[in-house]
Amino acid sequence: MSITARQLIQWKQQGRKIVALTAWDYITGRLLDAAGVDLILVGDTLAIALGYETTLPVTLEEMIHHAKAVRRGVKRALIVLDLPFLSYQESVQQAMHSAGRALKEAGAQAVKIEGGHPATVETVARLVQAGIPVMGHIGLTPQSIHQLGLKQQGKTPTDEQKLMDEAIALEKAGAFSIVLEHIPSDLAARITQELTIPTIGIGAGSECDGQVLVTSDLLGLSERQPPFAKVYVNLSEAIAQAVQDYAAEVREHKFP
Ligand code: KIV
Ligand code: NA
Repeated sequence: MSITARQLIQWKQQGRKIVALTAWDYITGRLLDAAGVDLILVGDTLAIALGYETTLPVTLEEMIHHAKAVRRGVKRALIVLDLPFLSYQESVQQAMHSAGRALKEAGAQAVKIEGGHPATVETVARLVQAGIPVMGHIGLTPQSIHQLGLKQQGKTPTDEQKLMDEAIALEKAGAFSIVLEHIPSDLAARITQELTIPTIGIGAGSECDGQVLVTSDLLGLSERQPPFAKVYVNLSEAIAQAVQDYAAEVREHKFP
């Protein structure tokens, strides 16, 4: 049985932490699911796997292609598809069409959209009315890199209030969860207390209801990772070593 968006809200009430990671392919989806990850985000950080500098170039076609692969590997975790830049901002109709494809074609169980602007909140409400579970994402929103950069958000009293208001508005619109990215821990803690729906933090301290990391950061596969990421294993080194060992054995007539 797959985990549902509703279940995650219950887990918050029970004080059970939510473990989330990103996946962009079948192998990763299968491994994360087997290791007991609760929520798998097919993030538009897919940009990293595709060699893009930012998340902006990622298309809905690319997201769906990769989400389908993840879908084939996952049995238990809730799969959330990250709607990429300009696949939902144009109109509610565009968002509905994109989210519909995420569920109908890719087999995702929910979508995530960035921002807490009133227009975004309206989009969330309309998607939820159509039966599509939506995850919000506020704080540092990488699709707005040309406006915000990649720096921490919510540092002035005005910004703190803005983020609190956005979180409340997204909850009211029916979002089942909200990603809080790169904001001060105490602000994340206050938002977490204020909301009934779970907050999933990334660079937002330990008081969130769950945590998410980009899997390539956790595994030491990214060329660079944000300051708040933790590298649990350096697979870049392990891969380089394995490939060098193989190359040496082939060249020295030792393998096969
Ligand atoms: O695209 C992504 O991987 C994300 C997470 C970092 C939350 O949005
Ligand atoms: Na993203």
